[in-house]
Amino acid sequence: MERPAWAPQGIDPSVPSVSRIYDYYLGGSHNFEADREAARRAIAAFPGLPKIMQANRAFMRRAVRFAVAEGVTQFLDIGSGIPTFGNVHEVARAAAPEARVVYVDNDPVAVAHGRAVLEGDEARTGIVAADVREPEDIVDSDEVGRLLDLGKPVALLLVALLHFLEDHDDPWGKVAELRDALAPGSLLILTHASVEGGPRGPEQGSDVEGVYRDIGSPLILRSRSEVERFFEGFELVEPGLVAMPNWRPDGPVDQEDPVVFTGFGGVGRKA
Ligand SMILES: C[S@@+](CC[C@H](N)C(=O)[O-])C[C@H]1O[C@@H](n2cnc3c(N)ncnc32)[C@H](O)[C@@H]1O
Repeated sequence: MERPAWAPQGIDPSVPSVSRIYDYYLGGSHNFEADREAARRAIAAFPGLPKIMQANRAFMRRAVRFAVAEGVTQFLDIGSGIPTFGNVHEVARAAAPEARVVYVDNDPVAVAHGRAVLEGDEARTGIVAADVREPEDIVDSDEVGRLLDLGKPVALLLVALLHFLEDHDDPWGKVAELRDALAPGSLLILTHASVEGGPRGPEQGSDVEGVYRDIGSPLILRSRSEVERFFEGFELVEPGLVAMPNWRPDGPVDQEDPVVFTGFGGVGRKA
C-alpha cells in the first residue's frame, strides 16, 4: 500500500491506532482501513460513539473559552489527537490572541499532523511527542520551556485521554505529578469514558472495552467516583463533574439523543 503524505515513515497501517480511530469517528481523513474496521466494530458494540465524541469536542471548546474568561491563556493539551478543526489554539486565540498552546501526543500521526497544522505558528504553539505516563518528559520539554511560564496558571487538558491508561499505569499518580508542576490557579480540563449515569449498560461498556483490548490499546471505563479522584488538589468549578453536554452549555441542552450523556466532563481549579 502506498503511504499517504500525512503518514510518517515507520507506522504500520495494519495496526489500528486510538488517534486514527478517533479521527474516523469525527469524520476526518487521517485513518487507514484497519482503523475504520476497528471503529465500525466499536460503533456496533456501542452505537452513537461518534456523537459522544462530538459532545466531547464541544465540551473541550466551552472549557477552553471558560479558561480564557478566567484569565488563563496558557494551554497544555496532552493526548491532543488529530482533529482537523476547532483545535485548542484556534478556540483560545479567538478569545485571546496572545494565547499559547503546547500539544502533546504519543502517536506519530497525531504529532506529524500537529506539526503540519502549526507550521508558521511556532511563536505561540508547539507540539511534543511524549507519553503522559512520563510527566517529567512533558514538563521538562523544550517546547514547554519555550512557550509556557509554569510560574503562572496553565490550563491542563486531559480530554478523552486517561481512559487509555490502565490502573497499573497509575493515572491518578501521573495527574498528581502534572498538578504539582503547575501554579495555583491552574485549571484541569478533563473528560473520561464511563457508563455510569448514561443510557448504555455495563454490557455494552464491556463490549466496547473488548474492541480496544483486541487492538492492543485497552480502554478503561471508570465509575464517577474514580473519575472524580483525578481532581484531587483541584476544586471542581460549577456545575462539577457532569455529563459533557450539561457542563456550562451555551444554550438549551438537546435531550433528543440520550447517548451524548455518556461519560463525564469537568474543570477543576488548583488552590
Ligand atoms: C480519543 S483521542 C482524544 C483527542 C483530543 N484530546 C480530544 O478529546 O478531542 C486520545 C488521544 O490520546 C493519545 N494518547 C493515548 N495514550 C496516550 C499516552 N499514553 N500519552 C500521550 N497520548 C496518548 C492518542 O494518541 C489520541 O491522540
